[in-house]
Amino acid sequence: MKHPLNWRVTLLALLVSSSAAFADSRPATAPAAATAPHVITQRPGHAGIASANFHATDAGLEVLAKGGNAFDAAIAVASTLSIVEPESSGIGGGFMAVLHRASDGKDVFIDARETAPAAVNTKDYLNKDGTPNRDTALNGPLSAGIPGEPAGLAWLSKHYGKLPLKDALTPAIRLAREGFQPDGRLINAITERQDDIKRWPASTAKYLPEGKPPVAGQVWRDPDQARTLEILGEQGADGFYRGEVGKKLVDAVRAAGGNWTAKDLESYQIKERTPITVDYRGYRVVTAPPASSGGVAVAEILNILSGYDLTKLDDAHRTHLVIEAMRRAFRDHNDYLGDPDFVKMPLDMLLSPYYAAGLRMTILADKATPSSMLPASIAVDPGMHTTHFSVIDKGGNIASITLTVNYTMGSTFVAAGTGVLLNDEMDDFALVPNKPNVYGLLGSAANAPEPGKRMLSSMTPSIVFGADRVGVIGSPGGSTIITQVLEGILAFMDGKDAQGVAAQKRFHHQYMPDRVDVEPGAFDPATADALTRMGHTLKERSPWGYMNVVTWDLKTNKLDAASDPRRESGLGKVQ
Ligand code: GLY
Repeated sequence: MKHPLNWRVTLLALLVSSSAAFADSRPATAPAAATAPHVITQRPGHAGIASANFHATDAGLEVLAKGGNAFDAAIAVASTLSIVEPESSGIGGGFMAVLHRASDGKDVFIDARETAPAAVNTKDYLNKDGTPNRDTALNGPLSAGIPGEPAGLAWLSKHYGKLPLKDALTPAIRLAREGFQPDGRLINAITERQDDIKRWPASTAKYLPEGKPPVAGQVWRDPDQARTLEILGEQGADGFYRGEVGKKLVDAVRAAGGNWTAKDLESYQIKERTPITVDYRGYRVVTAPPASSGGVAVAEILNILSGYDLTKLDDAHRTHLVIEAMRRAFRDHNDYLGDPDFVKMPLDMLLSPYYAAGLRMTILADKATPSSMLPASIAVDPGMHTTHFSVIDKGGNIASITLTVNYTMGSTFVAAGTGVLLNDEMDDFALVPNKPNVYGLLGSAANAPEPGKRMLSSMTPSIVFGADRVGVIGSPGGSTIITQVLEGILAFMDGKDAQGVAAQKRFHHQYMPDRVDVEPGAFDPATADALTRMGHTLKERSPWGYMNVVTWDLKTNKLDAASDPRRESGLGKVQ
């Protein structure tokens, strides 16, 4: 890997003279932020959950009512999403979680990300002429990493929950057996992916039972997945990764041309990691470390922004600075980040306020820096279809969890007899260095596939602790997860309630392509004009990720839970 500092020295030399006029608002180092109290002694006495589906939110509330804590509720929400929102996440996929345990104030990151099988071979993702084979990267068993979610749920239960795992899985198992009505989003996802689903008999039987997608009002049952969840509940992680279920998974994958082995499944392990923390405006943000790029980027952006008083700027200049910070953070994460168990990353540098101060010096007050002026990097864009939920229980335990199967309906491959829809997370690796992935973007050596390695994610589950308020924030949205979560964090710090944070209008810059993606209505015409005059290229974009947010006002001791109105209001509930 090239030395990380070389290009920065060059860049500073190029830009520092022209940025001198802006020096007043840029101290040489980030100001010390007041650190919020981190062990919270008060308890809310009631609970809040916000997820992407009312069955899932209700499942979490049911488990809380039975004496479970936030982590048991999280298992109930995640397993229910596996049944009702398979287009976004499921037990054939993985998740990343930031947890806060009230009893001792411990913050921990749970990395239940998928891993590459031992037989991973980049040739499988190339056509004969050496061009990338998008089909094997996105569809069918070769596109699937070894699932992490079942091990993650078992770990949550064993180490953080109060109830037996099987009790936390009960609502999902019941719903899968008794049936539910698929919502319009699931019907649309199946419709969009039906040509791929038709390639696999078990997928066709499950998702196109009468040869076509389900229709609104039809009752849908998932007995195979109910049985798999039941075995997981009875036997813990071994019930998924070994025995009857493990054998069916391996047999199905291999029969369809995949390369998983029993050993791949048996050796899967979740990782507990230290979350990234960054202090900003008196708040402490606790967020995702690698193998997510999200927390590093959010921390780098906040460190850059900490040198400005954004509250004193008009919308255009404030937005300009946020865009410029995004541009620089994305430029870094593209090059360096990957699975921390495989890749040495310059995290001390990337997270340093001094490093951020250097980057800040390269930002002009009212002129966009063309990305081409920043030394070349490659861009990474993990998939778009993911889900996030947030939980605070009455005892003050907190779970911020983002889950994914990658692309809509993952690989579209259901392993026969298990009901498990496998992910297509292998496409989040840089499968073919310097060749574009499905989003037309390139990947780096740090994120090249290796046996047992985790593919880089953008998932950024976060908890924001302030002296008076706590916010639980996350979003789906591929690489835009990072900027959407950042904007949610800033909105929360600006005093917005859970609904205001979820509804916050969004914009995104990821270094390359050099443009600002803008949600319609995010900027008023004067702000849009001013940004364009500064040299930013604005491009309207839809859709955006949907946030599910829970907040806790420490002064009134009230919880607030809200889902994203872009998707469906009312999925956040307090009880
Ligand atoms: N597959 C989406 C992500 O992990 O960011």
